[in-house]
Amino acid sequence: MIRQKIVAGNWKMNGSKESIVSLIGGLLEMGGSDSEVVIAPSFPYLSQVSEMISDSALVLAAQNVSNHEQGAYTGEVSVSMLNDFGVKYVLLGHSERRSLYGETDEQVATKVKAVLDFGLTPMLCIGETLEERESNKTFEVCQRQLQAVIDCVGVDSFEQMVIAYEPVWAIGTGLSASAEQAQDVHQSIRSFLSTLSESVARKVQILYGGSVKASTSSALFEMPDVDGALVGGASLDAKEFIAIVKTAG
Ligand code: G3P
Repeated sequence: MIRQKIVAGNWKMNGSKESIVSLIGGLLEMGGSDSEVVIAPSFPYLSQVSEMISDSALVLAAQNVSNHEQGAYTGEVSVSMLNDFGVKYVLLGHSERRSLYGETDEQVATKVKAVLDFGLTPMLCIGETLEERESNKTFEVCQRQLQAVIDCVGVDSFEQMVIAYEPVWAIGTGLSASAEQAQDVHQSIRSFLSTLSESVARKVQILYGGSVKASTSSALFEMPDVDGALVGGASLDAKEFIAIVKTAG
């Protein structure tokens, strides 16, 4: 089965009106790609980015969402609001949300449900800490994070989702997992899903995230179960991000 590659840029809490003009301007010069190229700016810039990319193949993502539809939730943003700005993907369960803001597996799962109910696509982030890897718990952690979502929305919903495997020890550290380490975990994720649904296991795109750069991305993309990348720091530099996209074909 050929799964289209996705290269997504998670800008995290970076950017300004001015810097976005030049960053998106640079990305618009990229030309065509066989991969789907996704940009996730902070909430206040969704409108600006949405307008700037409207005539291009670039796709808009948000970095988080509320699990409530509307009402008295000060500071929160709903899925319908994201939908108003043409958002397709919503990052959920990013390790920064889990570790800095205490998001639990169950809260992440209810956010996944809210996004699916509205017809948008969750990009579900999972991954282990260094301590968990060193105690051979990598797959146990990934499976637990996946299971909470499966319990909430069912395994078949993963046909409408993307998974991003982001080992916490590789995020922002400059220390990417090797292509083999990534493949190993991606393959375990796929084989776990295949015990529940062959079709989901075949179709679901699994991205790798954690210090991805153009110098490491082609080896990652050659792996049979790596269907793209979720890029943090390197996505803030148009030239570097385009170079990563090019390695995906
Ligand atoms: O979501 C992307 C991510 O957490 C990886 O960040 O800066 O290591 O590429 P970075």
